[in-house]
Amino acid sequence: MSQTGTTLSQYLVEHTRARDDLGSDFLGLMNDTATACKRLSDLVRRGELAGVLGAAGQENVQGEEQKKLDIIANEVFIESLESSGYLAGIASEEMDAHYPIPEQFTRGQYLLAFDPLDGSSNIDVNGSTGTIFSITRHDSADAPSDADFLQSGRQQICAGYCLYSSASMLVLTIGDGVAGFTLDSSIGEFILSHPNMSVPETTSEYAINSAYTRHWLAPEQRYIDECNQGVEGPRARNFNMRWAGSMVGDVHRILCRGGVFLYPMDARLQADGKAGKLRLMYEANPMGWLMEQAGGMAHTGTHAILDIEPNDLHQRVPVIMGSSEEVQRLVDYHSESAS
Ligand code: AHG
Ligand code: MN
Ligand code: MN
Repeated sequence: MSQTGTTLSQYLVEHTRARDDLGSDFLGLMNDTATACKRLSDLVRRGELAGVLGAAGQENVQGEEQKKLDIIANEVFIESLESSGYLAGIASEEMDAHYPIPEQFTRGQYLLAFDPLDGSSNIDVNGSTGTIFSITRHDSADAPSDADFLQSGRQQICAGYCLYSSASMLVLTIGDGVAGFTLDSSIGEFILSHPNMSVPETTSEYAINSAYTRHWLAPEQRYIDECNQGVEGPRARNFNMRWAGSMVGDVHRILCRGGVFLYPMDARLQADGKAGKLRLMYEANPMGWLMEQAGGMAHTGTHAILDIEPNDLHQRVPVIMGSSEEVQRLVDYHSESAS
């Protein structure tokens, strides 16, 4: 049954009416972004029938094997967004340097950093995937350089994701809370279904890839060990674990019912010379802002994610985010282990 309700466009018009900083160009940009998400949702939904499963046979700048859909998703977004005159440049997980808006198109005043397809390992098994995006301003008539993208998470003007799962959902913030919209495919519109999403302070559920237990550093070893001791341990209650293999899937669950998501620093990443696995500009920052806007916390263990001054488009960071009591506990364990 199709459902009537507030569309994404109606919500954004209403929520930007009093905002001098978010005018008609911003509304146009969000409209194009939603269109790209709908296109991708359709491809994901058709899967093998659309010929989008499988490996692309090449690696991205991170040295990770690209799936066909990683590349297709990148192209779908660029095609949907490059010509409308709202963007000055696009940075992506799948592109080494940023993509400048071609000369024949008008250059706008916004920058988009995005993860075209998050949870790539889920594509071929019909698991949940998503697109994560972060929008910042470019207040210059000049074409942007990579350096112009390196703004801290606090400077984002819009952040969100589209989850491709049993339903497709677009979840976003423009700094006045978090709203979730479900795609009604019968009318091709995102409809407000989850207003004012908020993360409970308290939770008994964590998300971490426990195959890396032996590599974890002391704070995470202690935290997960204490959770796993359940009612008999120092936490005096039982914990549950979930790991979607897609940050979008895990973060969405936490925005719906609480929890803590960890992709921490570990000895394996250290040995590879990596500062974490997840990327600051198009994974940790947008998800971090959503978490804070929903009343949760987003931290590395030593710094609030949104306070990090970026130094590279593809910078990696440790990520601990979700229900504030648990994130704060992990931050405390980090400071105790450092002293
Ligand atoms: P991506 O597919 O964009 O490279 O991101 C995958 C990320 C994230 O979505 C997920 O939480 C994590 O990688 C899974 O990593 P492991 O395979 O190490 O568990
Ligand atoms: Mn990702
Ligand atoms: Mn990706």
